[in-house]
Amino acid sequence: MKRRKFIKNTSLSGLSLVTANAFAKSGIMQDNNLNKIVKPIVVATWRVPNATKKAWEILQDGGSSLDAVEQGCRIEEADINNTSVGKGGLPDRDGNVTLDACIMDKEGNYGSVVYLQDIVHPVSVARKVMENTPHVMLAGKGAKQFALSQGFKSENLLTESSKKAWEEWKKKSEYKPIINIENHDTIGMLALDKNGDLSGACTTSGLSYKMQGRVGDSPIIGSGLFVDNEVGAATATGMGEEVLKTVGSFLIVELMRQGKTPQQACKEAVMRIVKKSGNRYKDFQVGFIALNKQGEIGSYCIHEWFNYQVYAKDENKNYKSDFYHKP
Ligand code: GLY
Repeated sequence: MKRRKFIKNTSLSGLSLVTANAFAKSGIMQDNNLNKIVKPIVVATWRVPNATKKAWEILQDGGSSLDAVEQGCRIEEADINNTSVGKGGLPDRDGNVTLDACIMDKEGNYGSVVYLQDIVHPVSVARKVMENTPHVMLAGKGAKQFALSQGFKSENLLTESSKKAWEEWKKKSEYKPIINIENHDTIGMLALDKNGDLSGACTTSGLSYKMQGRVGDSPIIGSGLFVDNEVGAATATGMGEEVLKTVGSFLIVELMRQGKTPQQACKEAVMRIVKKSGNRYKDFQVGFIALNKQGEIGSYCIHEWFNYQVYAKDENKNYKSDFYHKP
């Protein structure tokens, strides 16, 4: 073998080995053939098999990643048993269910709604903001007015059981966010379609019993969600205030741009939050998921039991995220 060719082959196989080892350590899914892009693929925060199934069906039919993430998120928004998004979401301390959501497409277009009331599907309103207005974000009454003008129906989102939980909470009125509340929180979803295009969406009712008017990371570009179709996408769950302060999802995409794997990038973003928080990280959860252009995924969180759902290669599986705090 000529020397040049030998060197080329050696360094390539060395690179493959390093990459394979990195993935083996992180425990994330990866195709055995390192050159083969895993697509389509959808990944979402938490255990949401119905949501990823819906998104997968769209992707398998050749639909766009944008349609997939919107339709996937809608499944959770309509599920009244999911108390952290859409209908049935737990209210603020005054009993108002206020929703935040956003969506971002392969061209870097972005739409978002904050403090939206009485509309079951904020993710779809966010998409309408992106597609049918010259703006990227609408808030409160204006967002609702816009939603109604687009044909969305107004309805009471406070279910009997969420009302009961709120009334119970009011007895002590103790504001204490619970880590991994009911094993659910913000639903963030990222997808890579058959064309190799990335999109993402994020939807939440925010922290339960929050102050009236509080908005978290989920509808804020770069914090709760960021997509760059040249590189990858990331989304967040957990304590929005902490994600906002580090612009976590943008940070992850930029780290991937610099060559980090999704797993390494998620871990670095979590570690930045941990370090800046002093000891406070013990009392709150933050989790990230990321997906790159090759269909590789990563996830990292502060506390145990954050998990994420992946639908790829005809399998809809839930994975436990790696985590920092191992007391
Ligand atoms: N991550 C959702 C929120 O803090 O509102």
